Amino acid sequence: MRIDHIGIAVRSLDQALEFYRDALGVVPVHRTVVKHERVEAAVLPAGDGRLELLEPTSGDSVIARFIARRGEGLHHVALQVDDVEAAAQAVRRSGRRLVVDRVQTGAEGYKYVFVHPRGTGGVLLELVERGSERTSGE
Ligand code: CO
Repeated sequence: MRIDHIGIAVRSLDQALEFYRDALGVVPVHRTVVKHERVEAAVLPAGDGRLELLEPTSGDSVIARFIARRGEGLHHVALQVDDVEAAAQAVRRSGRRLVVDRVQTGAEGYKYVFVHPRGTGGVLLELVERGSERTSGE
């Protein structure tokens, strides 16, 4: 397994990014609004992986509800898979649930699904297919 990124819910990207810049000297490689998720995402380099900071752009987004319920903090862990459609099928076959039951396209244009934490030991797990960026159309 390879960790692709760790997703962190924040109230303010600007404030969170200030910390990473001032304390660690790290600036985002990528910052973008993901309309269908109603978030703005900033991606920070972290070795082979990344940190994905997520600020809600609407009060009814998943991230806004997460922050309202649990406060800012660790939201999901993302693992790389070779074929996200096949991985989604395997999750379904195992009797576990996907949060949204179809493959979607993410902040950087890659394909992904989320596995419901009830089936993973309490961690919201994102499966991402790297290399799918170019064919995404975003
Ligand atoms: Co993510």
